[in-house]
Amino acid sequence: PRTIYFTRHGESQFNVQGRIGGDAYLSPRGEMFAKKLPAVFAKQIPENQKVTIWTSTLKRTIQTSQYMPYPKVQFKCLDELNSGVCDGFTYEQIEQQYPQDYAERDKDKFNYRYKGGESYRDLVQRLEPIIMELERFHDPDHTIVIIGHQAVIRCLYSYFMNYDHEELPYVKIPLHTLIKVTPKAYNCDVELIPLNI
Ligand code: G3H
Repeated sequence: PRTIYFTRHGESQFNVQGRIGGDAYLSPRGEMFAKKLPAVFAKQIPENQKVTIWTSTLKRTIQTSQYMPYPKVQFKCLDELNSGVCDGFTYEQIEQQYPQDYAERDKDKFNYRYKGGESYRDLVQRLEPIIMELERFHDPDHTIVIIGHQAVIRCLYSYFMNYDHEELPYVKIPLHTLIKVTPKAYNCDVELIPLNI
């Protein structure tokens, strides 16, 4: 596709509690986003456009895709950054139980690898097949929509925007927003479409 759409999953029950990782369902607000997404997206694309939705294998992205009337494919490699022993923790809990790790991550967020989990560097590598697949796609009549996770979309978005390792882990990917990326010769056009949920 020339244009690729990205969005995070709708707000999850873990997002509400400030917890990372896990495999939670959407919150009522997240569910509202899922319901509103098809109409907002349909307004974006030409009629007769072929559309495929890519999700992770986690409940919150699959649930977010549920009202989208298009074929869907799940990719394990689109799952959220694995936070290992800190899975399900709040940032406060991480700071209390693993203060050294917390400080290390703050110092070098791209390279910090959670105990038993991944770093952003690991995630970039895991996403290589997805990038290849997106780059291989040249059919202008076929649009891909990726319903993903914050860290994952940071990596994909940074690839297209040519962001470096320092900025990548801090890119703001707001919830309940459709991100439209159109690659150009040397850069990309970007449009943020907030759904105001
Ligand atoms: O763990 C998943 C979060 O979406 C990543 O957020 O890398 O800023 O802690 P963070």
